[in-house]
Amino acid sequence: MTKQQISKDEQKILAARFAIDDLVARGIIRSGMKIGLGTGSTAMPAVTRIGELIAEGKLTGVRAVATSFQTTIACEKLGIPVFSMNAQTIGGKLDLAIDGADEVSPEKALIKGGGAALLLEKIVAYNAKAFVIVADSSKDVSSLGTKFPLPVEVIPEARESVALELARLGATVTLREGIRKAGPVVTDNGNLILDCLWKEAVAPAKLEDEIDDIVGVVENGFFTKNVPTVYVAREDGTVDRK
Ligand code: 5RP
Repeated sequence: MTKQQISKDEQKILAARFAIDDLVARGIIRSGMKIGLGTGSTAMPAVTRIGELIAEGKLTGVRAVATSFQTTIACEKLGIPVFSMNAQTIGGKLDLAIDGADEVSPEKALIKGGGAALLLEKIVAYNAKAFVIVADSSKDVSSLGTKFPLPVEVIPEARESVALELARLGATVTLREGIRKAGPVVTDNGNLILDCLWKEAVAPAKLEDEIDDIVGVVENGFFTKNVPTVYVAREDGTVDRK
């Protein structure tokens, strides 16, 4: 008999809901906390689960910081109170951030920004005491940089100069184009995205800093400085925590 396998979309929902319930059960998510909420199709069911726990009265006094318009709108619909990182009640620091990822390496270095929200996602993740990633099994990879393109958010005026510097670092660079919109993707912050692919695996921690040193780069999608706890759902319906 063949064992039942679950789809990638089902894995995303499973990983997200499992993670929130596990974090609540282990006292890592508690009432009164300041929580950064990520963007994308795996982060959304985590946001929904937090909204459900608030509606059921099981979590109270949670203050959220959203990483995109997508997440802000979801929070507004779910009744999750949203604040700016700069609000006095947040004070620029969070207890926890939870988000999805495009790739996770064995060392738990990440590529993020498939949804073009990497800038706020990194501000939130790097200012959170604990960082949690939820993912389907396709995100688990042996090395970064050769399959899923690294997003780099750039000031529009620096598009060409940054692209030349990224090529000097060995990347093949593509300006991200909009879907159902003529022209390039414009981020929530009014910038453009250059997607970068390498022929061979790269050293993410070194490149994260080198790319950020290029004039005109706002941020890049390597996340190496706050190592997350990762919940990965598998095709057989189990979830690994690592
Ligand atoms: C958005 C992100 C997302 O977390 C990442 O792209 C994963 O998305 P999904 O959960 O939809 O696969 O970094 O900028």
